[in-house]
Amino acid sequence: MAGRIPESFIEELINRVDVVDVISPRVPLKKAGAEYSACCPFHDEKTPSFTVSPQKQFYHCFGCGAHGTAIGFLMAYDGLEFVDAVEELARSAGLEVPREDGGRPQVDNSGLYELVDKASQWFQARLRENPEAIEYLRQRGVSGEIARDFGIGYAPLGWGGLIKALGSSDSKLEQMLTTGLTAQGDKGVYDKFRQRIMFPIHDRRGRVIAFGGRALADKGPKYLNSPETPLFHKGRELYGLFRARKIGGQLERLLVVEGYMDVVALAQFGIQYAVATLGTATTAQHSELLFRNAPEVVFCFDGDRAGRKAAWRALENVLPVIKEGRQARFLFLPDGEDPDSLIRKEGEAAFVQRIQTAKPLSAFFFERMEAQTDMTSVEGRARLSALAQAYLEKIPEGVLRDMLLTELRQRVGHQIQLATSSASPVKKSTARLQKITNSPIRIAIALVLQTPKLAVSWPKIDELQANSLKGLDLLREIVDFCASRPDITTAGLLEQWREHPAGAHMGKLAADDLLVDDKIREVHWQATLGHIALQVASQRLEPVIEQQRQGVLTVEQKELLRQLLARKLELQQKNAATE
Ligand code: UTP
Ligand code: MN
Repeated sequence: MAGRIPESFIEELINRVDVVDVISPRVPLKKAGAEYSACCPFHDEKTPSFTVSPQKQFYHCFGCGAHGTAIGFLMAYDGLEFVDAVEELARSAGLEVPREDGGRPQVDNSGLYELVDKASQWFQARLRENPEAIEYLRQRGVSGEIARDFGIGYAPLGWGGLIKALGSSDSKLEQMLTTGLTAQGDKGVYDKFRQRIMFPIHDRRGRVIAFGGRALADKGPKYLNSPETPLFHKGRELYGLFRARKIGGQLERLLVVEGYMDVVALAQFGIQYAVATLGTATTAQHSELLFRNAPEVVFCFDGDRAGRKAAWRALENVLPVIKEGRQARFLFLPDGEDPDSLIRKEGEAAFVQRIQTAKPLSAFFFERMEAQTDMTSVEGRARLSALAQAYLEKIPEGVLRDMLLTELRQRVGHQIQLATSSASPVKKSTARLQKITNSPIRIAIALVLQTPKLAVSWPKIDELQANSLKGLDLLREIVDFCASRPDITTAGLLEQWREHPAGAHMGKLAADDLLVDDKIREVHWQATLGHIALQVASQRLEPVIEQQRQGVLTVEQKELLRQLLARKLELQQKNAATE
């Protein structure tokens, strides 16, 4: 495992790259004043509400609320993980990503990628010269064009062809073992893939990281897959995803199938958005990855018992990532068919028709639930209610969960209330920050995020040092950070707080339209801070006034009350003067 990427590097990266350069090759931007605008790539629209601010180094859509930095854009648009987005961005800026090696030796996998890529080239060359393999693909109806497009190759018979081709120096042998291309036997290392059609598996950046090998002969397992390696974690990868993204750009829909051959056949017949899990069930990581790449995901399974079971497992892993704007559906094929066989039989149009009429998640969910209970009896319905609730609690709070709950209520006919998920510290602190919506603190944080230069004029007011007001410590942290980095941008600040519990909420504040003209931001900032100070002063008064109400003030307390009241009045007058 490579070490963490140091924060200072993220800061440098955000300083170096221009968000406009990152977005413009992907979304054509038009200059509009100091900013750029375009039709939003994250939702359907006819008039542009997507803006990119070079000054803030930040993009924001007024239509759907999407927003973020250059790193965030690559994550959202290219469907990359944070680390991959950072690496991609660094590459485009000609920077090397440094790693903090937390005691571990630093790992450089570039040699492994190169080796696996060479192996893939070698397999493809072997296919071109092997009539038996070519004939096999021809018989299965795979066109030469699609085979080339997917980089399909052939691993010939024999134990040492690949080793010979890639070189048998100690370091090469070691790399081949590490990437699972060879195996260690009693008599030394040997090629693991033999007499197999080779499907290269690409990561989300298009690099070959592993293979699936389909046996030509009836020997050994039908499919042999690369083991888990430093490059390949099968629970995280989807076969065909890179290609689907490359061809389809911003995808409307992904179809999840079981086999390599299914993805290839579907593509050959015009369905370019199919991906396959790699001999595993759909994991929760897969689900998140799928929805990060398309708003609609259709899971395709055999119609038999095993298929239904696999579908249910997929549903269980999808529930935690379901939210507004994400739709999951389930497609069951006729017995004995898989997408490969079916699309060859009935063609693209009929298959698309099946996809379009696939079962919505809710229908599949209740069908399956009701199949396990006797809906005609009260006990049965109570059982359904208990069963279903356990699942529905896994869905994040939101519209979809409410809809399913309503449907459940209708089906069992009584009131149900879900236990609100126990609040973690992270959740609590974000909830707290959300509660202060529209408060002066919220406005102040939004102002300084959007115009970091304001931090310079942080007034020396005692009350602003208080710890009693929610969000004030966060505001101070941001202000202090800005003061130490005079050139920091909005994007730089957001990246600095990316991992912070309040990070996501800060993104929203940075995108919030405060309707404050640039020219009066400074005045507004001072006025807002004045309000905050006044809030703190009032807060300090509360306990003393309460004591006074109970009529038990000592001489010292009376003096304190007098001072606090005087201070409050002073702040009020000062605020009135600046407004
Ligand atoms: P299937 O047995 O459904 O094969 O396996 P298929 O895709 O229809 O292949 P063909 O048409 O017979 O060539 C579906 C997937 O399960 C994994 C592979 O990822 C395969 O694509 N699998 C299957 C294995 O990993 N090992 C096996 O032995 C079989
Ligand atoms: Mn098949």
